[in-house]
Amino acid sequence: MAEFENLPLHIGIIMDGNGRWAKKRGLPRKMGHRAGAEAFKKIATYANKIGIRYMTMYVFSTENWKRPKDEVDAIIGLLRNYLVEVDNYRDQNFRIRFLGDLSAFDADIQQKMEEIRSESANNTGLTLNLAINYGGRDEIVHAARKLAEQVKAGVLQPEQITEASITENLYAGDEPDVDLIIRPSGEYRLSNFLIWQSAYAEYVFMDEILWPDFKPTHLDQALLAYQKRNRRFGGI
Ligand code: IPE
Ligand code: IPE
Ligand code: MG
Repeated sequence: MAEFENLPLHIGIIMDGNGRWAKKRGLPRKMGHRAGAEAFKKIATYANKIGIRYMTMYVFSTENWKRPKDEVDAIIGLLRNYLVEVDNYRDQNFRIRFLGDLSAFDADIQQKMEEIRSESANNTGLTLNLAINYGGRDEIVHAARKLAEQVKAGVLQPEQITEASITENLYAGDEPDVDLIIRPSGEYRLSNFLIWQSAYAEYVFMDEILWPDFKPTHLDQALLAYQKRNRRFGGI
């Protein structure tokens, strides 16, 4: 287990490699997503146990609608299951939030997400953000529109738009910037994840592992790599 000092306040994970994991085993891609959902639950539990305060998990991007309908349906089916079984995690005291344009989902899913968000809002454990139908650019567009509405209503002057006011209008505007972004599976890109919040993030790309195989020891490895970084934020 990693040392508890100097933990990142906020970790983002791009849960990538489910499809390749399934392909390697001759299984349909949806089986990779199912295994990925299990890894997600274990890592959320572990992160909470070691005292991580915020974690944002990339579940489904605004670009992932391009995939075949049966794959998209399988991912949404897994989301539905999680929304039902999330009750089992009550003792973990997670504060659960959903980041993204949720209006794309069926009314029952939206309602369940809202229930979970509000019921867990005062919990004091890990803040667990699920990024679904999430895109970093889309998030910034939404923030820009909200600010534009305020300007139009005459309650905000254009020169009052600041980095802080843009941050406040993001999906989780009260949360700190992401400190560490982890991506398994050998892809070295952000794929539109937390692009505003990652301005000074540290990145750990893990080539040797696909998301469904990601274990607490891999999170430890990433934390150890993070702890060795010298973050200067433009200073010396
Ligand atoms: C990540 O795994 C899950 C989602 C994007 C929903 P992928 O499905 O992208 O897996 P690969 O990259 O095809 O292996
Ligand atoms: C990013 O993975 C999205 C999620 C993990 C949810 P993708 O597999 O969609 O990213 P690209 O297409 O390889 O950039
Ligand atoms: Mg992928």
